[in-house]
Amino acid sequence: MKLEPKDKVGILTSGGDAPGMNSVLRGAARVGAELGFEMVGIEDGYVGLLAERFVPLDLRTLDEASRRGGTVLGTARSKVFPTAEGQAKAKAIIEKQGLSALIVVGGNGSLTGAHALLSARGKNGPLAIGGIPASIDNDLGSTSMAIGVDTAMNTIVEACDRICDTATAHRRTFIVEVMGRDCGYLAMTAGIAAGADLVLVRETDKSDDEMVTQVARIIERAYTEPSSRRRVLIIKSEGVRMATAALKDAVDARLSVRLPDVDSRITVLGHVVRGGTPTAFDRLLGARLANATVRALADGETGFMAGWVGPGITRAPSPYDPYVVFTPLPEVLEETERLHQGDSPLARWRKRVYREVETVLER
Ligand code: F6P
Repeated sequence: MKLEPKDKVGILTSGGDAPGMNSVLRGAARVGAELGFEMVGIEDGYVGLLAERFVPLDLRTLDEASRRGGTVLGTARSKVFPTAEGQAKAKAIIEKQGLSALIVVGGNGSLTGAHALLSARGKNGPLAIGGIPASIDNDLGSTSMAIGVDTAMNTIVEACDRICDTATAHRRTFIVEVMGRDCGYLAMTAGIAAGADLVLVRETDKSDDEMVTQVARIIERAYTEPSSRRRVLIIKSEGVRMATAALKDAVDARLSVRLPDVDSRITVLGHVVRGGTPTAFDRLLGARLANATVRALADGETGFMAGWVGPGITRAPSPYDPYVVFTPLPEVLEETERLHQGDSPLARWRKRVYREVETVLER
């Protein structure tokens, strides 16, 4: 059902924040205002929805916010919302508030929540729902890029550049652990860009011993063969089961006799990777996905996620933006599950490429 002028459209950000979320809010607020809708924010994701914390979206505030990381609406991982009672309460609040449409900005869990709300009633019929992918992990199906990935990647590269300065000065090895949950995309792409000697990701299924052997071999070659190498940079995705400290200790122990002077350090970047000024790409991605989403909802579309075109995304371009594709939410969730299980063409391609890249980086 098409939306009508003055219809109320809610928007929330949920799950781990991602740089660029504020640009989504700004884009949605501006396009929604242009189309005559009442745009309202919901604070702290599904937690705020359950507490009925609806707030007006101020364009001037959002103009400023879109230059910054985080999300001005706040975000949360609700424990109550996934329960049957939580969802019933959320649906009752949506109906009471007279929403006609809801935009959910977030990752896998957030979009699963959006899917669950498809049976909610809006002001004049079923609630219209649009999802926008935002997660630094890039572990969502049906989009080539999620909001926040580009900024996180740049943050890791910048941190590694700094680390390499001091590593080179001391002729040290650094193992840098980065976020990404169980998905190695961020570690791998940042590792290539940062000039890492090795990137360890969960998807390549290595045993602890294989990883220790590989890291030790790289260090040994770097410091014993005639070479001008003064540093070794290993990027390790947080999804790799072996603890980073245990990896360092095992490598140090293995090299201690032959190379007693080898000096290694660990840096865990942690939440540093998730904050910071969004790149121009993330700002634009947020604005364009928001634009297409609001326009699609206005035209009566519902139950979709707006994705960004790219490898493996074969859907027809949307009428609003040739770089934006719409995929039904159930399909997005299935594709995401296959990606997590390593069981989709994209997952298989990534796994193969991770191995190919490894041998190239090791040279
Ligand atoms: O999903 C985004 C993410 O930053 C992951 O990379 C990370 O594993 C997780 O969230 C951390 O979550 P929290 O901020 O709740 O500790």
